[in-house]
Amino acid sequence: MFGKGYYNEFGGLYIPEILVATFQELITHFEQAKNDPSFWRSYVDIMSEYSCRPTPLTFAENLTRHFGGAKIYIKREDLNHTGAHKANNVMGQGLLVKRMGKKRVIAETGAGQHGVATATMAAKFGFECTIYMGEVDVERQRPNVFWMERLGAKVVPVREGTRILKDAINEAFRDWVSHMDSTHYVLGTACGPHPFPEMVTYFQSIIGKEAREQILQREKKLPKRVYACVGGGSNAMGIFSGFLNDPVELVGVEAGGKGIDSGQHAVRLSSKDAAIGVAQGYKTYFLQNKDGQMLETHSVAAGLDYVGVSPILAHLKTSGRVKFDYATDHEVIQALSLAVQKEGVIPALESAHAFVQAFKDASNLSHDDSIIINQSGRGDKDIFTIADAFNDPGWKEFIKRKAEAYYA
Ligand SMILES: Cc1ncc(COP(=O)(O)O)c(C=O)c1O
Repeated sequence: MFGKGYYNEFGGLYIPEILVATFQELITHFEQAKNDPSFWRSYVDIMSEYSCRPTPLTFAENLTRHFGGAKIYIKREDLNHTGAHKANNVMGQGLLVKRMGKKRVIAETGAGQHGVATATMAAKFGFECTIYMGEVDVERQRPNVFWMERLGAKVVPVREGTRILKDAINEAFRDWVSHMDSTHYVLGTACGPHPFPEMVTYFQSIIGKEAREQILQREKKLPKRVYACVGGGSNAMGIFSGFLNDPVELVGVEAGGKGIDSGQHAVRLSSKDAAIGVAQGYKTYFLQNKDGQMLETHSVAAGLDYVGVSPILAHLKTSGRVKFDYATDHEVIQALSLAVQKEGVIPALESAHAFVQAFKDASNLSHDDSIIINQSGRGDKDIFTIADAFNDPGWKEFIKRKAEAYYA
């Protein structure tokens, strides 16, 4: 499936002339690293020593009993250092940056998880670090901004456009064009120009490799279905890649926001609101109007709030290998609540999209079947959004007292 950055008609490398040499350098180093078995070994070593890999595959006994159908397993990417699968990609790219001899990294971030992970990697490897983040996301993910700054990164709020993830990506590219010699752009998802979709998938494939081994050990057979939420597509590609050649159904769940008809969503693959186009250096489905202008997106989960989607997933959709559905903000809060109360796991709002679809399906499947939900990250970062959704009076009181103390 992977070759020269095209996945049938999707993908490619649509970049300004000035970036061609930088991309060529990156492609060469990535190819060399991939063909060097010691590179993958050093990656696995650092991930186990620094980020608790292999992450467990947890049997969700109570949820299984609750739905009374398939056995539900949860792949615990939330237990990575910094709380999400983003750590896999950044540590891998960090090792590559060391090989390239560069000293500065930049990144875009939506939910802030990728920003925190990149700032952490930069602290660990001694790189200078700048993170671009839409002003709207800076507001809703303040705790992550706090940690990025403590980790020594410079966080630049992006005030252009709709002030969310796509605008942060544009700004990061602008920076890269001016600092190519010293800087590597640590793109956070399986999108963007070649080699990013393939490279990010390569590092995230550790999720699927582990999950396949773990479920075979537990169940002695493959799962019926695997579920993952889809923002840019990196956690989905990570877990799906372990099962692509198996008779396992793969389900990607996008952000339905306030519902498809509201126009306030980020459903690129499971709605008719998106069309194929080229933007941000690659070809895929984008939410865009007839003139090719990008539409505004919405999701309660900042990490899914993006107009484009991995070209590899676009290909897997058109080939029929992966099915896509969406979950609304309201469904996401309900599913998150159930997962917290029944199982004591705290999925990120992004991950809770995958839980919604798995919960809809579980009771219709046989007791002999198992399903895996990829819990891409932990929900602690979402405490402000979740507390608002629950209209929690104790939390409001606490924030009010805190604010009063600051103003005193
Ligand atoms: C916890 C979590 N899950 C999922 C995503 C979506 O990204 P991707 O589709 O690349 O996995 C994000 C993005 O920030 C995230 O923080």
